[in-house]
Amino acid sequence: MSTRPVLQIIVASTRPGRVGLPVAEWFRSVAEKHGGFTVELVDLAELNLPMMDEPNHPRLRQYVHEHTQRWSATVDRADAFVMVTPEYNHSFSAALKNALDYLSHEWANKPVGTVSYGGISAGTRAQVALRPVLASLKLFPTGGAVNIPVVRQFLTEEGTVEPNDVMSAAADAMLVELEVLAHTLAPLRATAQS
Ligand SMILES: Cc1cc2nc3c(=O)[nH]c(=O)nc-3n(C[C@H](O)[C@H](O)[C@H](O)COP(=O)(O)O)c2cc1C
Repeated sequence: MSTRPVLQIIVASTRPGRVGLPVAEWFRSVAEKHGGFTVELVDLAELNLPMMDEPNHPRLRQYVHEHTQRWSATVDRADAFVMVTPEYNHSFSAALKNALDYLSHEWANKPVGTVSYGGISAGTRAQVALRPVLASLKLFPTGGAVNIPVVRQFLTEEGTVEPNDVMSAAADAMLVELEVLAHTLAPLRATAQS
């Protein structure tokens, strides 16, 4: 791992007019100010993966499709992740589940935080539903998370996100955790690869 770990912020909503992109852009600006990471935004709408279409189990890494090979290379170079997900029907987005299912080793032994949002539930049910999926891929969820209630109240007329103090403090705390975990877990990843 380079001195500054790579943090990928994954935008999990893909529909036109989504709030997910401005939420992710807000979090990216906080992560850049934090300064501990090389920050990348990964937009699942741009990635445009089809529904899982690989014939082999991802743990074999025998990917036959170019879109999977590209996705594998992208996730491989990351040292940490933040999933920015809406709450849809009390869970996280189907696009995120699909993107997670495509790969296996590429996720392992890396820390992950969540920024979830929705209505009055603040995306908490999406966050809770996501946790066991992340753990099954050997991702290490942070203790803290960012939960945004009634997300549209934080949108400005320009379509950017204006956070409140609770959101800002939660984002800062999660980045501290992610940075420590990214460095702490690096030896484990090196062992797994050798
Ligand atoms: C299909 C669908 C299901 C939704 N289900 C929930 C829900 O279970 N809980 C909730 O708080 N909000 C729910 N919402 C509201 C969304 O959280 C809200 O519209 C949010 O802006 C969606 O994120 P996006 O704009 O990034 O797609 C739902 C929205 C959609 C489109």
